Amino acid sequence: MIVMSIWCSSLSLSSRSLAIAVVVCLTLVYFSYSFNACILASISRSLQQSNLRNLLALTSSPRNETSDAGSSSSRSSRSSNSNSNSSSSTTSAPPVQTVTSSLDGAPKYQLLRQQGLRPSRHLPDTLIIGVKKSGTRALLEFIRLHPDVRAAGSEVHFFDRHYQRGLRWYRHHMPYTIEGQITMEKTPSYFVTKEVPQRVYHMNPATKLLIVVRDPVTRAISDYTQAASKKADMKRFEQLAFVNGSYAVVDTNWGPVKIGVYARFLERWLLYFPLSQLLFISGERLIMDPAYEIGRVQDFLGLKRVVTEKHFYFNATKGFPCLFKSEARSTPHCLGKTKGRNHPHIDPGAIERLREFYRPFNNKFYQLTGINFAWP
Ligand code: A3P
Repeated sequence: MIVMSIWCSSLSLSSRSLAIAVVVCLTLVYFSYSFNACILASISRSLQQSNLRNLLALTSSPRNETSDAGSSSSRSSRSSNSNSNSSSSTTSAPPVQTVTSSLDGAPKYQLLRQQGLRPSRHLPDTLIIGVKKSGTRALLEFIRLHPDVRAAGSEVHFFDRHYQRGLRWYRHHMPYTIEGQITMEKTPSYFVTKEVPQRVYHMNPATKLLIVVRDPVTRAISDYTQAASKKADMKRFEQLAFVNGSYAVVDTNWGPVKIGVYARFLERWLLYFPLSQLLFISGERLIMDPAYEIGRVQDFLGLKRVVTEKHFYFNATKGFPCLFKSEARSTPHCLGKTKGRNHPHIDPGAIERLREFYRPFNNKFYQLTGINFAWP
């Protein structure tokens, strides 16, 4: 272009010839510019495609990690189920797997934006509604290993505490997702709060509901252990679980006992949602065989089975399955200290009495769900 300009300016021509020369120059400049722009665009496109492929390969590879602590119909381009899962977690210390690139949200979304995939916030497609102290955090941490699942970081408590703030507020608390990703939220108190089933139904009657359940006696002890960890002068479990100091009458008004009458709460949910929209996850099996339970969850959500036994290892010191890596951490880790606590010793007589108390309610729950959890 510069050469052309020099050439043009160096010629001494009549004004007519000069005009023709200028037109010729401009035409040449225009074609040269278009040609270069074309080449640059094509180079940039092929670079982006190869980056996206790398990114997809990364996000679908096993990840290592943990932590503690309008109507959204299914936006699916989700694939159907494939692999079957088999054995449970392994028992040895984890080999450290190397991660070659950051799985951090920001660069990933920058790249996706470049691809024309605009991340946006949606109301949840799926809720983990309970049950408190049954393994709800483990379930969330395990299922969010899936690249097509994005979850709110903390319990939002929209349907029980913040309902008056409206769906716009709720949606603002959801993570960014792209086409085909599921939005998930976990608030375990939803299961036992009276108004919640109707409210969830009004948000979206197609919402999928995940419920982790555990033997209600150990659940009550776990609940008590958590409360006692926050209050130094807490009475003994046996004093709180029964009325008048004997084991004759169970105190059904005491939260840790009341929550374990699962059938009672489930009946309310079944007034609004068909059983087919609910998935019950065994809290005991989530510990014994996390891959099996997560396989069921992936099937239920119409996701490809990406999270498998390869993601878990059994940490003998903690006595629980832990993760090789996750979205947040690339090294092996377990759930935090508040998950998997040591329980205090409880008088076996009190435990036996509670088992007797729960038995008819458990049977009713088995009948409603069609699953025999075989709690003692
Ligand atoms: P404990 O701390 O009483 O053992 P939630 O997340 O709903 O509060 O449930 C906590 C319970 O999750 C824990 O109760 C623990 O038994 C159970 N759990 C299931 N899988 C776990 C895991 N991989 N690590 C730690 N705790 C797990």
